[in-house]
Amino acid sequence: MSRTIYKSLPDLALARTKRDDGKTIREPLVVPDIVKEFGEGRKFFIKTFGCQGNVRDEEILAGYLEAAGMVRTENEEEAGLALINTCAVRENAEEKVYGEIGKFKANRKKDPTFFLGVCGCMMQEEGVAKKIKASYPYVNLIFGTHNIPNLLNLIGESLARKKDLVDVISFPGDIVENLPSTRLDSYKAFVNITYGCDKFCTYCIVPYTRGRERSRAKEDVLKECKSLVEEGYQEITLLGQNVNSYGKDFHDGTSFATILREVAALGIPRLRFMTSHPWDFTDEMIDVIAATPNIMPCIHLPVQSGSTSMLRLMGRRYTRESYLELVKKIRTKIPGCAITTDIIVGFPNETEEQFEDTLSLCEEVQYDAAFTFIYSPRKGTPAAKMEDNVSDATKHERFDRLLKVVEAGVMSHSQAMLGHVYDVLVDGPSKKDEAVLSGYTETGKLVNFPGPKYLKGCIVPVRIVEDHAFSMIGALVEDPVLSLARRAGKALENEPVAKTYLAAKKAFEESKVVSSLRAEVEKAQKEVARLSAVGDDVAFAKAKKAYRSSMDAYRNDPVVQNYEASKEEMEALLQEAADILR
Ligand code: 5AD
Ligand code: SF4
Repeated sequence: MSRTIYKSLPDLALARTKRDDGKTIREPLVVPDIVKEFGEGRKFFIKTFGCQGNVRDEEILAGYLEAAGMVRTENEEEAGLALINTCAVRENAEEKVYGEIGKFKANRKKDPTFFLGVCGCMMQEEGVAKKIKASYPYVNLIFGTHNIPNLLNLIGESLARKKDLVDVISFPGDIVENLPSTRLDSYKAFVNITYGCDKFCTYCIVPYTRGRERSRAKEDVLKECKSLVEEGYQEITLLGQNVNSYGKDFHDGTSFATILREVAALGIPRLRFMTSHPWDFTDEMIDVIAATPNIMPCIHLPVQSGSTSMLRLMGRRYTRESYLELVKKIRTKIPGCAITTDIIVGFPNETEEQFEDTLSLCEEVQYDAAFTFIYSPRKGTPAAKMEDNVSDATKHERFDRLLKVVEAGVMSHSQAMLGHVYDVLVDGPSKKDEAVLSGYTETGKLVNFPGPKYLKGCIVPVRIVEDHAFSMIGALVEDPVLSLARRAGKALENEPVAKTYLAAKKAFEESKVVSSLRAEVEKAQKEVARLSAVGDDVAFAKAKKAYRSSMDAYRNDPVVQNYEASKEEMEALLQEAADILR
């Protein structure tokens, strides 16, 4: 009897179909008893390959496992459950996955209850699940990107039936909210705004692995971002394969510019977004970025190729000229805006001339950073069926030539930073040296500089003293204690007591009733002062009475009372903080 139950397998034809009746599902999380029993105290390990979308999925997978009583470990050898979260965008990403699965054979040998799952984009490709099961029979569960919300039920079913399961649905289906999540970072967060992609660039597997494009409801995005702000997060990156498309499926005028504006208004110190398609990057988006200081001036704008004829073959919907026009517009309206890109070298039948168009485009744009890839055929995509007359050697030689041009552009930007001061959000000690901190400027430049560890998560001013092209060396220009105090002050603003106080203060300052009562008090006070010099005892006593009654009316006003009471609580909180510092 086979040990594996194939519940569903991917179907790329189905993955292409668009569904218009997608719902938002908000079901409470239920942990099956058998998973609770299995999970209690068990250590889990997750290995993620690929993009930020996969990193965000890892946080959700971890959220489910922790809900089942498991605890994360970074040491794969001690894991009682492991998930390998895969990427399908290029072949080399896939090869690494097979090596990773192989490592876990030892865990199973040591612990017969060890549970291994493989998930993510690669599982959405036809044929992969069967291949994995044939070569690595100790894999217990294979599931796709659309099956994540069902993770605990799948583990439960596998345990209950004592079978391995494969469940990879291709139909994109619905948006699931209320997902559990254990964030990997305590001050930088990814927030999904759209899922999937409708662009179908001819080389790309993503529309098949992630499904058709759908936007999360604006209220759900804002709710998630608001709680991140309240938790003291310093940076949010709005994620989507093509964020520009946000809201198009609502047909009510909501756009990416709308959500950018509204998330920025929540007060997150740094707001980023990725990825933007050059085809539907609107003027409204540029205007919102230009006008909103906490939206970072840094735009990832994948060009893929600098040749219009190649862009047509790639299905990119823009020309070299319209791309350059967009870059010009961005740089005019958002001075100092960093522009980064993705480029593919060696698309089938790429000519020397087409490649040189890419080189000259890079020379013209001078990217702040560029991710360069050699074309990798992806089964099921239109480009994979094209015959290719370019040799591997030519592709590699072009790749090296491109890197040199890209590097020159990157260096021109980094050299210009020398001697200037930039705000850097500190990630923490650098990997190489505990005494050196790493962080990113608003435009996304990596800066390393000496400083105390406690600055992790603070935004600090740093002067650039040395230029290393892809990273910079800097020096703090402010006493680090001051930077920390500023962050502590900000954190205090998010305390419930402080929030109540700030709201009561605002109501107090804005109330028309309060200001007229205060005017009455001031008038009565002046009258008392005037009569005290005149010597008319009766009039003086009357004025004093009028003053007392105006004072009572003022003090008894509910807005004033509320303000005074919350002020007392705020003072007590600050006193407590001061005591701790002492
Ligand atoms: N081959 C090489 N690079 C690819 N990318 C996407 N598909 C492929 C492929 N088949 C690159 C694109 C995209 C980035 C995320 O990966 O440049 O922007
Ligand atoms: Fe792939 Fe093109 Fe969609 Fe980007 S826009 S995910 S390259 S299909």
